[in-house]
Amino acid sequence: MSLTSGEWAPNVSRVVNDLADRPAVRRRRSGARQFWDSTIGKKSVMAVSGALLLAFVFAHMVGNLKTFLGADDLNHYAHWLRTIGEPVLHYSWFLWIQRVGLLIALVLHVTAAVQLVKRDRAARPVRYVHRRPVRATFAVRTMRWGGATLAVFVVWHILDFTVGKVNQDFVPGDPYHNLVADFQVWWVNVIYLVALAMLGLHIHHGFASAARTLGVASVRRERAIKLVGSSMAVAVAGGYALVPVAIMTGLVR
Ligand code: HEM
Repeated sequence: MSLTSGEWAPNVSRVVNDLADRPAVRRRRSGARQFWDSTIGKKSVMAVSGALLLAFVFAHMVGNLKTFLGADDLNHYAHWLRTIGEPVLHYSWFLWIQRVGLLIALVLHVTAAVQLVKRDRAARPVRYVHRRPVRATFAVRTMRWGGATLAVFVVWHILDFTVGKVNQDFVPGDPYHNLVADFQVWWVNVIYLVALAMLGLHIHHGFASAARTLGVASVRRERAIKLVGSSMAVAVAGGYALVPVAIMTGLVR
């Protein structure tokens, strides 16, 4: 019997993985390397980096709600973010430390996700002989496509409010003005609302996956975990959406 090239690739990668898991080979790899190479290690890295990103996303959403208190409050808050840690840290240093931390968490999260998808595909050379349940497939697809959409959104968002390149009337140091100018444009609102829907779904599915990986989930706790995950998703996505919706409808101007 001869194998086609499509059948070779998964077989070769399985042999390489099997060899790598032999005790003699494993002993030569460091503990951190072994952890990263294992599926549970990558899933744990995804869960922890995801929790850090969620903490930032939640704090950022709460901060954005200052928009409803007016220009002075929001702009004062944006200025305060740059003075955290003074006089030990210089102006803006905290922001840069946060940026580096977020970037590391994001790179680890995306790298582990891409490698897990590749591993999953290699372990399933014949695709969908037995179809998976529709709900599971939907969750997997929204995590993958939603995650990619969010990565593109974050780049757009930084060009919009931090760099100001895609904002129609960017004024450095005046985030209130930049928000009001930006959300006058209908398609900008569409971009944000679609991204926020993706973020909500990502948090909803991601929360349950992370709970399973970290060993918190059990049959008894399943409903509670789903409830916490979906409440978090609605609170974060809904909290963010309030700002563009309020500007779009003229409630905030
Ligand atoms: C309607 C939703 C959102 C609004 C109105 C908003 C608003 C803003 C504003 C005004 C800034 C600039 C802050 C400043 O210069 O001090 C900013 C920065 C940022 N936002 Fe958002 N944001 C939203 C959603 C998001 C989401 C969903 C994410 C992540 C998934 C995100 C991640 C970031 C990041 C990473 C920065 C850059 C912070 C930095 O300069 O270091 N934002 N956002």
